[in-house]
Amino acid sequence: MENNDLKNLPGVGPATANKLESAGLTTAEAIGVTPPKEIAEKTGIGFNTVLNIVSAAREKLGVDFITAEDLWKKRQDMLRCSTGSKNLNELLGGGIETQAMTELIGEYGVGKTQISLTLCVMVQLSVENGGLSGNAVYVDTEGTFIPERVYQIAEALGLDPHETLGNIFLARAYNSSHQSLLTEHLFKFCPENNVKLVVVDSMIGHFRGEYVGRENLSERQQKLNSQLHKLNRLTEAYNLAVVVTNQVQANPTAFFGDPNRPAGGNVMAHACTHRVYLRKGGKGTRIATIIDSPNLPESKTRFRITEKGVEDAEE
Ligand code: GTP
Ligand code: MG
Repeated sequence: MENNDLKNLPGVGPATANKLESAGLTTAEAIGVTPPKEIAEKTGIGFNTVLNIVSAAREKLGVDFITAEDLWKKRQDMLRCSTGSKNLNELLGGGIETQAMTELIGEYGVGKTQISLTLCVMVQLSVENGGLSGNAVYVDTEGTFIPERVYQIAEALGLDPHETLGNIFLARAYNSSHQSLLTEHLFKFCPENNVKLVVVDSMIGHFRGEYVGRENLSERQQKLNSQLHKLNRLTEAYNLAVVVTNQVQANPTAFFGDPNRPAGGNVMAHACTHRVYLRKGGKGTRIATIIDSPNLPESKTRFRITEKGVEDAEE
């Protein structure tokens, strides 16, 4: 189905299509993965009509049942983007996977943004050179995207820095609901702009800032979950990679080991396919550990942040 062909959905006339589009629901993909209640609230379309539209959208996409064989075939299209560090790539089973969400977890200054910026450059390389021959979207919630740094990384890798910067699309998310709207727009934007990597840096910052206190925790987790769900669907719909960053919070019940744990609780843990825990090592190195991956062994490796972005560090 064409992306902006909402009108081809049964029961969607031009007026309804306009309402959906103004709410950021511009594709059948976006409609198929958004909870009907949310669509009704955002568009003002009656709930029963919304249910019909959603079911038409899902039918169109064929998102009901597929055989395991189909899934196996789809997994064969999975690609991996190099991080720039062989060690880190190996740890990740070859690089950052498409059709998956990778979470970079760690305290401030550990290198989550640096890895993300490097990936925005690497993704543009050809597949033979470790990239995905695609462009990048960077959803910046904290205003930490630094174009000069990307310029430096591109130059150090022998690329045209201006061209590299031109292939990275930035969106500044001002609060969690704006972030959610941007996520919905990605269903239209990514296929139209050959986007193969979406970074959300940080996934959880706004949520933590806006929903303070125990009484707001369940609403926060629900909203967070819905956004993560959409991002997951995005990775599958367009065979692209999503990388989200996450902070750590002190765990007051830890008696030994690292007293920090990833923020976002079970919702983050379940949504992310690969969780990479980062911490500082000696001599300016960084240590990355894989935690709770379905198919990667729990192991760790060392890398460095350099002018080229991310590189190996001696063991
Ligand atoms: P928060 O967003 O605050 O949670 O931290 P973060 O994990 O995103 O940290 P970030 O990626 O910003 O890492 C910052 C660290 O990267 C700095 O402390 C430096 O060690 C390193 N770094 C940043 N810029 C450069 C650079 O241009 N060259 C080199 N070699 N290292 C850099
Ligand atoms: Mg950062």
